[in-house]
Amino acid sequence: MIITSKVYFPTGDDVNSRGSTRKHISASVEESLRRLGTDYIDLYFLHRFDDLTSLEETLSVLNDLVRQGKVLYLGASNFAAWQVAKALGISSRQGWSRFECMQPMYNLVKRQVEVEILPLASSENVAVISYSPLGGGLLSGKYGIKKRPKEGRLLENEMYNNRYNDPIFYEIAEKFTSLAEEKSFSPISLAVAWVGSHPDVTAPIIGARNCEQLKPSLESVKIDMTKELRAEISALSLEPPPATDRNEERTEHNYGSR
Ligand SMILES: NC(=O)c1ccc[n+]([C@@H]2O[C@H](COP(=O)([O-])OP(=O)(O)OC[C@H]3O[C@@H](n4cnc5c(N)ncnc54)[C@H](OP(=O)(O)O)[C@@H]3O)[C@@H](O)[C@H]2O)c1
Repeated sequence: MIITSKVYFPTGDDVNSRGSTRKHISASVEESLRRLGTDYIDLYFLHRFDDLTSLEETLSVLNDLVRQGKVLYLGASNFAAWQVAKALGISSRQGWSRFECMQPMYNLVKRQVEVEILPLASSENVAVISYSPLGGGLLSGKYGIKKRPKEGRLLENEMYNNRYNDPIFYEIAEKFTSLAEEKSFSPISLAVAWVGSHPDVTAPIIGARNCEQLKPSLESVKIDMTKELRAEISALSLEPPPATDRNEERTEHNYGSR
């Protein structure tokens, strides 16, 4: 069993009970160890980049936690690629433990990670365990252009409602569900398999309300996601432009070919 936890968001009203400062991280890890009833956490994530604390301070305290044996490996969630790259540079220069894993959002309608995060992971040999493979339920088959379930996270949770409020996402969800049905796959298994089939994704983190919901997500590993099937699914949503915004970089005749 691997235990992971995260730190950053407020754990109390006090102004110091938040962020990635030495004070908050030191106190939070002790609280997590106590609540989990364990001596160490296998993988400890920063939940978000802290714009107000120096990265040196944060990485220094994380390195101390590894040295003390309270944490084995470090990770970063919801970071931009430049923030992870900057952190990797600092850790390397100082001889500190570095981020070994990233936890970004990734699904058929949220593909920004393909531009910078996944290439960074590949270049620097950093693991990726991405979250929300179903877009919080959007790709489960129960949402479409006009189709809504009686209950569901996208309806009940304001943050998720806001994150997925673009009508184009519901259009993609409808087309994706049709494609899954046409090929006799559960849309849930297919959506998770699509995420897991990206060569730079180590594993998707799956989410479920109950055991029944969990089954099709687990069955995703049975799908043979060929290059053709992946391409067919990918074509349902827009591939984000390259980081340079030069679309020609994606063609076979780009100037980097030798
Ligand atoms: N680092 C971060 O900031 C961050 C953020 C989000 C999540 N996470 C992690 O990643 C995990 C997965 O993310 P996620 O929960 O957003 O994943 P997800 O797979 O995109 O969404 C899971 C939701 O989809 C719906 N669903 C799942 N299986 C279904 C089924 N068989 N039939 C119908 N609906 C189904 C359920 O919501 P409804 O029943 O409500 O529709 C379920 O809660 C989380 O548990 C969490 O550990 C991390």
